[in-house]
Amino acid sequence: MITYSKKAMNNKLNPQALRLVGQPMFRLLEDVKKLEAKGQDIVHFEIGDPDFNTPSAVVEACIRSLRVGQTHYTSSYGLTELREAIIDHTYQELGFKPSLEQVLIAPGANPLIYFVIQCLVKAHEEVIVSDPSFSTFYSVLNFLNIKTVRVPLKEEYGFRMNPQDLSKRITPQTKMVVLNSPHNPTGAVMTPAEIEAVCLLAKEHNFFILSDEVYHLMSYGVKVASPGVHDSCRERTIIINSFSKSFAMTGWRLGYIIGPEFLIERISLLTQTIISCVPSFIQWAGLGVFDVPDEEIKAMNEELRLRRDLLVDGLNQLPGVTCLKPQGAFYVFANIQGTGMTGEQFADLMLQEAGVALLPGSNFGQEANGYVRLCYAVNCDRIKEGLSRMNGVLSKRLLTSPSLKAL
Ligand SMILES: Cc1ncc(COP(=O)(O)O)c(C=O)c1O
Repeated sequence: MITYSKKAMNNKLNPQALRLVGQPMFRLLEDVKKLEAKGQDIVHFEIGDPDFNTPSAVVEACIRSLRVGQTHYTSSYGLTELREAIIDHTYQELGFKPSLEQVLIAPGANPLIYFVIQCLVKAHEEVIVSDPSFSTFYSVLNFLNIKTVRVPLKEEYGFRMNPQDLSKRITPQTKMVVLNSPHNPTGAVMTPAEIEAVCLLAKEHNFFILSDEVYHLMSYGVKVASPGVHDSCRERTIIINSFSKSFAMTGWRLGYIIGPEFLIERISLLTQTIISCVPSFIQWAGLGVFDVPDEEIKAMNEELRLRRDLLVDGLNQLPGVTCLKPQGAFYVFANIQGTGMTGEQFADLMLQEAGVALLPGSNFGQEANGYVRLCYAVNCDRIKEGLSRMNGVLSKRLLTSPSLKAL
């Protein structure tokens, strides 16, 4: 058998392919799978995948559509019926009605991040992203070799993007600013005044705002503001949204974009070229989302709020750990600097010794080495179990390692 060195293989590739880094989280998932294969019980705080079942209105809509033969191509913009439902939903949530040509259906929010940046940003232009941030933003920008300008999010500012910090990073090359509120990985929700300040900067300096709103419906006691209301997504605001998180539909792969018509037209051509369309029956299932009773969504959010409170209170009692209480999404971003460990050491220790899977802050940027992200997509009993195991490991460490700080 002929064996090739990695270097020789890499030489065969388009250099751009070597710029692909993927999502660091998937590396930890491999380790978790190995431990579970050996029979170890793991408490899962790592994946941002709601543990609720997809609402039955969605499942039934899908089955009905399959039974009547909705198994063919659709327009690459998506089904008109679903786009119209999204227009109505946008009106209810944000108070403006985009045109049909401003709305396109996609297989989740993730590919849309790539489609937007690929269609809009030129080689010499810059994109401003928060640090920490959802890793796809960095990965796509790295793949496309576009300069990423990072705005550090500060814990003392509630991990929200501070418009003043943002304004210091704007240059004539700034083409786009990425907002994500509620935020992954911190759960931070920007205030309406902060969002408005970013919109004013966008107008003044003529850049686009890519607003990733996949957690828009997941907030606790606050109303989430969107930059889309300032220009109805007609000029410079692009909203990306998804059914993955709010409706427990991560595996269905269904999302949408609202943006200026000239951009959406290009994205429809890219969709046509690469994926043709989202499967027809998945889009019909998506229409079922608008039949989900409000009480069902409220009940999911209420359960998430209880979990958040339990997790944050418990984390704040662990030696060397402090944690803010975020107002949205389903993540907490805990400060573990008092343990004397980096986020990676902490995540490794918890996986190996406590059977608790969580993600180091370094998976989300360069500014978050002293933090870890926990997702509360597990029930209250499992949260208690995870906290108790972490407490056991940290308390033992405290006895053997007096250097444990901040106690
Ligand atoms: C901020 C953010 N945007 C997009 C996505 C991807 O969502 P989707 O499942 O719709 O591709 C995620 C998933 O974790 C996310 O956190």
